Amino acid sequence: MSNHINIDNKIAPYNKKIQVSSDKSLSIRTVLLASQAVGISKISNLLDSEDVFNTLKTIKKLGINYKKKKNYYEIYGFGLNGFNPKNNTVINAGNSGTLGRLILSLLIKTDKKIKLIGDKSLSKRDFSRVTKPLRLFGANIKSKNNSLPVEIKGTKFIRPINYEENIGSAQIKTACCFAALNSPGITFIKARKSRNHTELLFKYLKIPIKVKSIKEFDLLEIKGLQQYNAFNYSIPGDISSSAFFIVLTLLSKNSQITIRNVNINETRIGLIKILIKMNSKIIIKNKRVYKGERTADIFVKSSKTLKSINCPSNLNSSAIDELILCFLVAAKAKGISTFKDLGELNKKESPRLNISIKFLRMIGIKVLRNKNDIKIYGKPDLDLKKNFHVKKFLKDHRIFMMSCVAALTLGGNWRINDKDSINTSFPKFLNILKKLGAIIK
Ligand code: S3P
Repeated sequence: MSNHINIDNKIAPYNKKIQVSSDKSLSIRTVLLASQAVGISKISNLLDSEDVFNTLKTIKKLGINYKKKKNYYEIYGFGLNGFNPKNNTVINAGNSGTLGRLILSLLIKTDKKIKLIGDKSLSKRDFSRVTKPLRLFGANIKSKNNSLPVEIKGTKFIRPINYEENIGSAQIKTACCFAALNSPGITFIKARKSRNHTELLFKYLKIPIKVKSIKEFDLLEIKGLQQYNAFNYSIPGDISSSAFFIVLTLLSKNSQITIRNVNINETRIGLIKILIKMNSKIIIKNKRVYKGERTADIFVKSSKTLKSINCPSNLNSSAIDELILCFLVAAKAKGISTFKDLGELNKKESPRLNISIKFLRMIGIKVLRNKNDIKIYGKPDLDLKKNFHVKKFLKDHRIFMMSCVAALTLGGNWRINDKDSINTSFPKFLNILKKLGAIIK
């Protein structure tokens, strides 16, 4: 069966209300935390995607049962370190860096040997960023070239650590927090600011955590070996999935959209801050707080007057998965935009910085690169006529979806490979586009 799509028409004006899929970070975290709770947790609106199915399959392989009910999943937790795997169990994180990195942190005390593998993209990614702190906790870990496969065997002799996380990676911070659950005493983490869902979930579950903010860092103190109970949680919509529709609407003509019930955690809304600085019309409505997480409806209108940005790099972390979309908006904005310190982008499902630069040049946009900083020369009148073929992007779901947004707003005849990549995070993406009126073959 063919695994590419063709787009030959810009999307016609629309005025719609939509709901996107549930947040991936919260889906993976709640399943993993439920696996360590005592009792039956109920998670509703869990994201229906491969990364989350792989999370469920992983806990099952480690001896934790779950049941899919009509609108929710029941997860039967046996408490901290309650996994009961066979020796030499192989777990497959598929495409998910979050699952791969976080599951290791829950295995530091397991007395069996577990091997972690992943797909081609995940096998190219760096695991030393989590194996380094996990070894300090005491876990025995083997991996060649700091990448998958990684073999882990836990130990009874876990000790708390004092760790500085300097990249601004929520996966590393969370791996340290999860490992701290199984450590005696107090673990101290000084972490460059990044998404804080784990800290909010710990607070909600009454796991003893203290968080202090000092300039661009958070200081975390976690008291380990404190068992928590099973919980109920309903996952809100994903801002990273909403981002494609926000940018689609901004770059389309005479359109508007409301995206309902989206997580707008302060540590995730860099995209919105960047787009507002670029003169976009975005309104946040119906703000609510759910178990510590902020949610809202997001209203966006097409914009004819986008302007360039000199993007402060302290917004990178809160827009980390959306920066590729910010580059696309910069391509249509008036003036020269600059984005700095983008090294982390090359460590994602594909080398997204390199691929975005190639992409922008392919559509006729001048981009200058100096190490990990880029300048994008915007063309507000950009109107494409040629044929474009997007291929060789390591099946990165976000590059696929960004390419669709470009094709539907900039013109030209597009063939975009690897449609199935969206199954990892947002299988409904193309269906929602079609409901808005997009013609996709
Ligand atoms: C995630 C953190 C980010 C993000 C990823 C999900 C998480 O990765 O890019 O899609 O759920 O913690 P890093 O921690 O590598 O920045």
